[in-house]
Amino acid sequence: MTTRHFLTLLDLSTGELEQLIQRASELKKMQHAGEIFEPLKNQVLGMIFEKSSTRTRVSFETGMAQFGGSAIFLSSRDTQLGRGEPIEDSARVLSSMVDAVIIRTFEHQMVERFADYSSVPVINALTDDYHPCQLLADMQTYVEHRGSIRGKTVTWIGDGNNMCHSYMNAALRFGFHLNITTPEGYEPKSEVGQQPATKTENRTSSFTLMNDPIEAATGSDLIVTDVWASMGQEDESSTRNEVFKRYQVDSELMSHANSDALFMHCLPAHRGEEVSAEVIDGKQSVVWDEAENRLHAQKALLEFLLSQ
Ligand code: CP
Ligand code: NVA
Repeated sequence: MTTRHFLTLLDLSTGELEQLIQRASELKKMQHAGEIFEPLKNQVLGMIFEKSSTRTRVSFETGMAQFGGSAIFLSSRDTQLGRGEPIEDSARVLSSMVDAVIIRTFEHQMVERFADYSSVPVINALTDDYHPCQLLADMQTYVEHRGSIRGKTVTWIGDGNNMCHSYMNAALRFGFHLNITTPEGYEPKSEVGQQPATKTENRTSSFTLMNDPIEAATGSDLIVTDVWASMGQEDESSTRNEVFKRYQVDSELMSHANSDALFMHCLPAHRGEEVSAEVIDGKQSVVWDEAENRLHAQKALLEFLLSQ
């Protein structure tokens, strides 16, 4: 049996991802109907967190409990990993005891090194470069509200950060066009755009960098933003607040998107910074469904990875 990991969206094929999103909606219906479904009885998820979290921690822990398994929260403050035990050693030891591991950390390379030495699936619960679990929930949310995202236009506005990189991967896998608008110097890493489509997908990367937020939002089906200073960039907050001012998603900007456009934000949000209260609390915003779907999408992911 091969161990599959989920470090970026590109670890799964388009077909696998589309099936996973569909399964997430099924699991959601089952859970809302009060159906007990425990495919992971006696299985244990190790959860390593080197950064804060509300949604990711609670959705994975709850998902494991609903599936009949359990989860162990491992804060870097309390583990030997946090005191310098090599990643490779930690990976070998932990994966000899638990059935899957999720990791939220800084350098993306850390999850890659951990996965290289892990005998069980490793899931990226956010690194400085990617946040693939969030994209599963975002894609599920879009599909539930509007149907297929294939061929649609999505606009990323704000920082070219981990979420933006995962949106670039999603454009490739789910077949939508991504407009990216960031202040100069805050563009996404260029190497993310160079990851090739797999042969069977016969598709090329589909994103455009734009300077003007209004131009980027025009004709868009989905507007997405995120905080201007991510975890680890707290010191840059005041500089970034100045630089990013023009990139707030407000009602004026939303008025340039298609009339049925949705608004998403992975949360936590800062009203009055990257998004106005009017937009995030308004009719086009689906942020609460998006947050809830973390639970269902990750249950589908756990079921998929643990049944390989
Ligand atoms: N969106 C997200 O990952 O939220 P948390 O940081 O609360 O986990
Ligand atoms: N870009 C944000 C996402 C938080 C879920 C961060 O990395 O802090």
